[in-house]
Amino acid sequence: MIRRYDFGIPFPTEAVVLDLTPNPEPLPHFTKKGTKLNFFLKLERDTVVYGLGESNRGLNKRGYLYESFCSDTSTHTPDIFSMYGAHNFLLISGKNTFGVFIDCPEKITFDIGYSDYDDLKISGESTDYTIYIIEEDNLRSIIRSFRTLIGESYIPPKWGFGYQQSRWGYSKESEFYDIADQYQNLDIPLESIYMDIDYMEAYKDFTVDPSRFPNFKTMVSDLRSRGIRLVPIIDAGVKIEEGYSVYEEGVEHGYFCEDETGKPFVAAVWPGRVHFPDFINPAARKWFGEKYKILTDCGIDGFWNDMNEPAIFYSEEGLEETFSYLDSIRDTNIGIKESFGMREAIENLSNNPKDYDRFYHNHNGERIVHRKLHNLYGYMMTRAASEGLHSIQEDKRFLLFSRASYIGMHRYGGIWTGDNSSWWEHLLLNIKMMPSLNMCGFLYSGADLGGFGCDTTYDLMIRWLQFGLFTPLMRNHSAISTREQELYQFSSTGYFSKLLKFRYRLLPYLYSEFIKAVKCHEMFFLPLSFEYEHDSLSRSVEDQLLIGESLMSAPVYTQNAAGRYVYLPESMLMVKFDSRLERTCEILEKGHHFIDLSLEEFVLFIKRNKFLMLAPEANNTDSLDCTSFEIIGYSDKTDVLSYDFYDDDGISSKVDLSSMLQVQISKKDSVWKLSNQIPQIKITKIDIMEASVY
Ligand code: NOJ
Repeated sequence: MIRRYDFGIPFPTEAVVLDLTPNPEPLPHFTKKGTKLNFFLKLERDTVVYGLGESNRGLNKRGYLYESFCSDTSTHTPDIFSMYGAHNFLLISGKNTFGVFIDCPEKITFDIGYSDYDDLKISGESTDYTIYIIEEDNLRSIIRSFRTLIGESYIPPKWGFGYQQSRWGYSKESEFYDIADQYQNLDIPLESIYMDIDYMEAYKDFTVDPSRFPNFKTMVSDLRSRGIRLVPIIDAGVKIEEGYSVYEEGVEHGYFCEDETGKPFVAAVWPGRVHFPDFINPAARKWFGEKYKILTDCGIDGFWNDMNEPAIFYSEEGLEETFSYLDSIRDTNIGIKESFGMREAIENLSNNPKDYDRFYHNHNGERIVHRKLHNLYGYMMTRAASEGLHSIQEDKRFLLFSRASYIGMHRYGGIWTGDNSSWWEHLLLNIKMMPSLNMCGFLYSGADLGGFGCDTTYDLMIRWLQFGLFTPLMRNHSAISTREQELYQFSSTGYFSKLLKFRYRLLPYLYSEFIKAVKCHEMFFLPLSFEYEHDSLSRSVEDQLLIGESLMSAPVYTQNAAGRYVYLPESMLMVKFDSRLERTCEILEKGHHFIDLSLEEFVLFIKRNKFLMLAPEANNTDSLDCTSFEIIGYSDKTDVLSYDFYDDDGISSKVDLSSMLQVQISKKDSVWKLSNQIPQIKITKIDIMEASVY
């Protein structure tokens, strides 16, 4: 059951798709104080609080403070409160179990047992918002209801599940050819190469620098014929430059956010001074969205939207304040106060919340200060792109993901988790964040594998890829001037080749489970506690994830680990892969286990009475054969196992589960065989391990 409660005059964020009548009764569960957003809830000692999508720390959010305020935070240390996404959904699992979604685009603070371990406080300045309370029988049903409320998640093309290579700094044609050559010469799979800001002419959106990319269209098609796609970045800020058509059109039609005096607001990002398109205004959205055609006409079919919190390096006003402070101390004896003051003045130049009070949106003729709609900006930019791409080619799926987001944006694109660092801690953060994102509708997601900031290392890269094997977005991305981390930069490329070929073996299962999760409003990554709700130990496991209906992943995420502890809530089949990706299988009983795993080894687990369909190895989705499979599985006292397998052409925008195939295998005379006729697929081998006590 979903109930809606309105306060004040909520802004139509379009986060939800169900039109519910507001409930006139007081909001259940919480105590409200004052007129602003201010709610309290007493937590029992063992209450677990899930949710908040892209946010810091654990899967259980208890014990810390989180701010929903889309922020360009480039160093994700444990003390930061906000990240790029604002996902105001909590799932409280305790004596009272329910979900709560606060639909409010302003900043909200979630104090989840931070000030007082037993108190949950949700607060903000806003007086206008909607709260939804979702109550169902169990955690998964709550998520299903919530996801029905917010609508179906974005589905990328199948090639978006391939292995993708990215780095900030690729700046000329020859570099892209070189990356393709290096990967292909070493027989390491590669699906796409990303074009970060350096492909543009002076960082101007929808331009390609003609001096560094003289034959852009030819390059796109050359690489495409080798199975590789290019994915350019699009930034939120539009460079102020006479003669640049995007700038001139935006000014002419009033499509940019305005300052207090009604002039386009000036901020600075990569190109220097820019204007921000007013993505809240549908006409501006349409205009900006249609610009993607400039690149789709060159053969591009995937994009990533960046800096759309929006990130601000400085505003004119901020710059003025900083220079006047610096001038004021120029001739003084600069001591402790001034030294700190200088540092602060410079640091406060970028992403200063004061700047979000300095520009306005046009919402149906009403001027609304940005701060009040802040968390919608990245969402509406990605909506602009999605709607634009849809108008360019309605029947085709484009790859699209964003950095900033709000619930609602999950219908238009995926997200990547922003500027992490090459730290083991961020591999663990990546593991913990995935299910939280799924709760909030963000299914197509992944982290910068290997880490974005700082120098990566061989062992971290390996361990991160061993987990990245399972994330829908599998992209290796790093920052300019860090150690290069394309997989051919490391000495032992043979292992990477094997590992990525295994990604393609897994891909049909991942794709099938992903589409089923989207269509049935399920999670792709599930915490153990969501499946084994009555197993109390499962509630504290945050480093093992269920993936779709058959698998559990238990990645290694610590330096120099010789293995790891794994907790099994029931018996499972452990499938261990060695450095040649050859496997050994063993049934492990419910309970605690230590699994030895040297650096080039990893495990996956197959749940009881489930199986996994593995395709042949491939180097990209063009050459992936989704019709021929090997089956590995675990039977516990049953002679019949089945799996609902979904596949499609991977590109048409119409996706429905009616074409799903039920793959059933059964044991007869000690031999497992496919029991139903499925002309679309061929099963080449069946390897089922059976529980010995039969
Ligand atoms: C910030 C993004 O988070 C990062 O991924 C990108 O490389 C840089 N912007 C440069 O575009």
